Amino acid sequence: MFIQNAWYMAAWAHEITDTPFPRTLCGVSLVFFKNAETGEIAALQDRCCHRGTPLSRGQIVPEGLECGYHGMVFDGRGDCVHIPGQARIPAKAKVRSYPVVVQDEIVWIWMGDPACADPSHIISYPYHNDYAKWPHKHQVYRVQANYMLLVDNLMDLTHLAFVHKNTIGGNPKAHVEAKMTVTPRDDGLHFIRWLLESAPPPTYRKAVDLAERIDRWMEFQYVAPGTVLQWTGGIDSGKNAVENRDQPGFSLRIFHGLTPETDTTCFYFWSAANGYRQDDPQATQDLFREIDTAFKEDKGIVEAQQAALSSTGENDLVDIVSDSARIHMRRTVNRLLAAEHQNA
Ligand code: FES
Ligand SMILES: [Fe+2]
Repeated sequence: MFIQNAWYMAAWAHEITDTPFPRTLCGVSLVFFKNAETGEIAALQDRCCHRGTPLSRGQIVPEGLECGYHGMVFDGRGDCVHIPGQARIPAKAKVRSYPVVVQDEIVWIWMGDPACADPSHIISYPYHNDYAKWPHKHQVYRVQANYMLLVDNLMDLTHLAFVHKNTIGGNPKAHVEAKMTVTPRDDGLHFIRWLLESAPPPTYRKAVDLAERIDRWMEFQYVAPGTVLQWTGGIDSGKNAVENRDQPGFSLRIFHGLTPETDTTCFYFWSAANGYRQDDPQATQDLFREIDTAFKEDKGIVEAQQAALSSTGENDLVDIVSDSARIHMRRTVNRLLAAEHQNA
């Protein structure tokens, strides 16, 4: 069961080109297409109302999306606008359409009641529009795990020292001893972890010159159901980083978009923005490669976790102290699911 009345990331805007683009989200087969004239992106159920053929097998024509079987054409609202050899269009000739908004390089979709879709609730991520200060690259993986396992992964960063010991990790003791402040919010939570006087991990050292000891922060904002905004960095110790993080050092921003495909698969969209050597395209590329390696480590661990949970169940797992943010996150999701259920 997924939260329906929410904005999910459906795709990177650049993924939708001039051919129909199929993608299953929250268990629904969808087709995305771009209007040939206006460039507007629409999402329809990927099933023609005539004989049920996937519309993604068709083609984009000036009036909309043409079914590849008998040529009915549907516009971005899902209304049939043309039937070959027939002037009258039956009132029932329509397919379900889903509200879509393109903002900050992201295609957002609303899977629930269209009347409740309010674009002003979409998370703003202005860094995607600022290539001068935050040059970045995008990625998407299809992951063989429920999307919640990836959100869990981002809510408990003590895994860095174990899963990512060769990349972004660092010293296990420093991670466990990090000072962590969790602030619940209506739509999710915010947390910040400070690793003071800690040794810079390999990724940081490769990126910039740093002292032997740095003050390192990891700031995360979770917005239900599947968005996590991350600002991470480190500044030489002794420069009062806690009060002022806008000083020379290492700094990066990551956007994480986690969207269910099915109960046991999801899409992991992310971007990594270089906030330390903005004039150096190689630095942006190197950061991307490093994060890509690290996130594939996460993908590997959650896929193995999903396989084990699928075969044994999730009912007898134990919570430990490092689960505090994860527990808040799960509470938020359960509260939203229960509210939707009540109003249904
Ligand atoms: S199945 Fe689409 S037009 Fe016939
Ligand atoms: Fe990780």
